[in-house]
Amino acid sequence: MTKSLAVVGLGNMGVSVLGACLEKGLSCVAVDIDEKKVAVLAKGHTVVPEQGAEEIFLKAVSDGRLKASTRLADVREADAIFVGVQTPAKETDCDYHVLKVVLQDLCKVCAPSQILIIGSTVFPGAIKRELLPILESRPDLVFVYEPVFLRAGFGISDYQRPGKLVLGVADPSRPDPRLVDLIDRVVEVPPRFVHFEEAEWIKMVHNAWMCTKISFANEIGALCREYGTNPEAVIDIAFSESRFGRLMTTSHMIPGPPYSGPCLPKDAVILGGMIAASRHFEWFDMGVTRALRTSNEKYRRDIVNRWLHLGLGSGMPLGIIGVAFRPEFNEIRDSLALDFLRAAEQANAKVIAYDPMFEGIDAARFELAARQDLYVSSLHPIVSHRLEEVWGSCGAVLLNRGLNEVERKRIGAVAGGPSHVIDLYDNKLQTGRQW
Ligand SMILES: NC(=O)c1ccc[n+]([C@@H]2O[C@H](COP(=O)([O-])OP(=O)(O)OC[C@H]3O[C@@H](n4cnc5c(N)ncnc54)[C@H](O)[C@@H]3O)[C@@H](O)[C@H]2O)c1
Repeated sequence: MTKSLAVVGLGNMGVSVLGACLEKGLSCVAVDIDEKKVAVLAKGHTVVPEQGAEEIFLKAVSDGRLKASTRLADVREADAIFVGVQTPAKETDCDYHVLKVVLQDLCKVCAPSQILIIGSTVFPGAIKRELLPILESRPDLVFVYEPVFLRAGFGISDYQRPGKLVLGVADPSRPDPRLVDLIDRVVEVPPRFVHFEEAEWIKMVHNAWMCTKISFANEIGALCREYGTNPEAVIDIAFSESRFGRLMTTSHMIPGPPYSGPCLPKDAVILGGMIAASRHFEWFDMGVTRALRTSNEKYRRDIVNRWLHLGLGSGMPLGIIGVAFRPEFNEIRDSLALDFLRAAEQANAKVIAYDPMFEGIDAARFELAARQDLYVSSLHPIVSHRLEEVWGSCGAVLLNRGLNEVERKRIGAVAGGPSHVIDLYDNKLQTGRQW
């Protein structure tokens, strides 16, 4: 019986998997090289604002089921290990440096026959080329690749109830019973065991398809608006089609923000790079797949230029409401707000930004992100703790998150307000939506 899991790498994904397993009653060892994260988690607090995480971790610490550690060797105490360290994008592939070092170290410390699940994203061919050679020294380990599909902020419930559960294994016809048991305890949908290469492709195809839908919806949205038509109504009905339910689903088909953040753009970028690097497609342009990245990047640039144009014309500071890459989350890697800050810096324009997720306690998170993006260091001083300040003193405001009722009342009480609002979530503010 598999009752304990070690999670190595406590980023957005690691924390989600940890929360999902603890909530289902497993005992967990949480390992990260970041001492600050480990110290926070050891007290039962979360390092990522995943829904439900704080309560789950506090309870697990008081039950004695969560051990947080910086020592990789502590994974020996668990029946299985889940690895969730970063694999950032390079042009035609991910950068596997960190993952490979962790695997090499795990080979030295793992207990005999432990199950080793890689959750970090890897691209087609990488398991065979980069990872399996490392594992040759430990043929006793049961190696698994699990492509994980999570929404930031809802990672714990998404891990327990995913749209699909895919597990890449050496022999899909004979999965290890301990793996089957572990998954059965935590995940509420039946697993689909596939070969490693299939699992790698499934992950990339899933994300690339989401990027395609978002870009397509945004392009149709822009066109409809140009012709004075409401794009939401068009898309909602055009894509609801009971005969082809699986193909025509409207998820991700709401015209709105471009895709951003650490996961989706990565897959579109690498897919484009793979096509560019491939010599097999001389006879076939692959225009749709190739256009994925350019469409989104152009859309991002256009929104930024519009904001700059409107804002600079007003002679007032430029405003941003919503700094994170998605609402109610505090991840700023590849956030749209960073594009705006870079552009404003180049235009020598003053910016005031607001995001409730970056008040007070999240200064530490800024520091963490600042190591990954230089512009974040200049972002910190301009983040206002007051929504009213942004609304009342800026000429053009970007709404990079939807406003809730309370926030709408707060800005409603501000005398004046911006002359231009670019509302990516279009929640019908009185000032109207401007593009
Ligand atoms: N964020 C998501 O929701 C999500 C979803 C699906 C897949 N993924 C994939 O999961 C992987 C991780 O993504 P993330 O957003 O959680 O990354 P992240 O950068 O937020 O977190 C990675 C963590 O790994 C830790 N780490 C680095 N080296 C380590 C080492 N030697 N030992 C222990 N810990 C170490 C880091 O300190 C950090 O806390 C990526 O490959 C990503 O593509 C993420």
